[in-house]
Amino acid sequence: MGISQIEMKYRERFYLSERQSQRARRIFPNGVTHDARHHEPFPVCVTEVDGCYKTTLEGHRLIDFWMGHGSLILGHGHPNVVKAVQDQILKGTHYSASHELEAEWGQLVVELVPSAEKVRFTNSGTEATLMALRLARIATGRSKVLKLAGHFHGWHDQLIPAADGTPADGNWRQPGISASVHDDLVVVPPNDISAVERAIAEHEPACVILEPTGGRWGAVPIRGEYLRQLRELTNRFGVLLVFDEVITGFRVSPGGAQQEYEVTPDLTTLAKILAGGLPGGCLAGRADLLEYLEYEHPSGLKMKHPGTYNGNPLSAAVGIAALREIQSGSACEVANESARYFREQLNRMFSEKGVNWVAYGDFSLTKILPNYRGVMPESDHFLPYKNEHRLIDQPISRELTRSFRSATLINGVDLMGWGAIMSAVHSKEVLDSSVTGISEAIDMLQQEKMIS
Ligand SMILES: Cc1ncc(COP(=O)(O)O)c(C=O)c1O
Repeated sequence: MGISQIEMKYRERFYLSERQSQRARRIFPNGVTHDARHHEPFPVCVTEVDGCYKTTLEGHRLIDFWMGHGSLILGHGHPNVVKAVQDQILKGTHYSASHELEAEWGQLVVELVPSAEKVRFTNSGTEATLMALRLARIATGRSKVLKLAGHFHGWHDQLIPAADGTPADGNWRQPGISASVHDDLVVVPPNDISAVERAIAEHEPACVILEPTGGRWGAVPIRGEYLRQLRELTNRFGVLLVFDEVITGFRVSPGGAQQEYEVTPDLTTLAKILAGGLPGGCLAGRADLLEYLEYEHPSGLKMKHPGTYNGNPLSAAVGIAALREIQSGSACEVANESARYFREQLNRMFSEKGVNWVAYGDFSLTKILPNYRGVMPESDHFLPYKNEHRLIDQPISRELTRSFRSATLINGVDLMGWGAIMSAVHSKEVLDSSVTGISEAIDMLQQEKMIS
């Protein structure tokens, strides 16, 4: 197949990024340092960011809907965050000692997150979910873990299986992970509470872990009723409930999805907004569980937890600045309302163009489904295909995904896959131009006859 018009325009517009990518490919597999940044023919190379924009090597401004993979709800370069970095860098980035900032940072987590009686800092969300599972095993004396299909919890061995949409062949195992680790993982379909009940009865897991608004930030949305049922069920069977709020924490509301839905898990994993755009994560939760990290725990089962950069003063200073901004709730509210407006405008544009696409999502997280064959939304509280996960989470053709991404970038919009993560600084004007950019990208796909 010949090179498409979209690809030609993309190469022309991002010619310096292409050159940079050739260099990167000699160093990195696929030329990237995170799987999600992979794009063919090559990804754009960014040199600077501000507010809700990124600027490419060629000087093109893009409206950013990645926002630091979800960590920058306050936007790029929030003045208090910048000041926190500038002040702290002069005082040191690593003390190899306890310090006041870590306690202040932890105190904010305790104040904001309902389940957080105690906290331990990690370096990432992946480390936080790893820690949650180990702690759950120690506390319960059981080894299995139950997760929901399509939920993403980082890349460590125990939870990277079944992190994508339903695989065509139903095999969610991952290469490089030992059989015994796979055998300790029980995967159930999302939103099916009786499947969880059956799996708990059969496997007696140590814990159930999930993204509380739905896997991969709401691809198959979860709402309060399911969370309440899950809480009741896990309490009844003595299984620990872990909310992975790495994305939803400090975003859905200052206290995350658990505050919004008034369901308190036993353990909560946090990262991203927690550290205001710098590396950092934490496990928070019931004091009696976190106490397994203490020396001389009465059980004699101390969980070991080193980590060179845990609670480092730079991440702590920035995390404090960010969480203080989040505390009032207004950043979360603005981002939620902007995302609602964005979904509404996208759906209006899709129907005006007569394309069978749909935008959906909850809070400040938006997803787009092309080739949608279900009922169209009448309100923002809309669930495509009545939330039937096999329909909603179907794989989208790689060719369409790739061309749509190139076409949106040509038109100045940097979507995160088929979705958008909103910040509190995306104004209505910015969102209107994003909808125009996406509309023009759809025109390009139609010209290429990739969609009708
Ligand atoms: C819900 C969820 N959990 C865990 C992680 C892993 O966090 P990190 O990338 O900081 O390791 C992510 C990352 O995107 C996530 O979205």
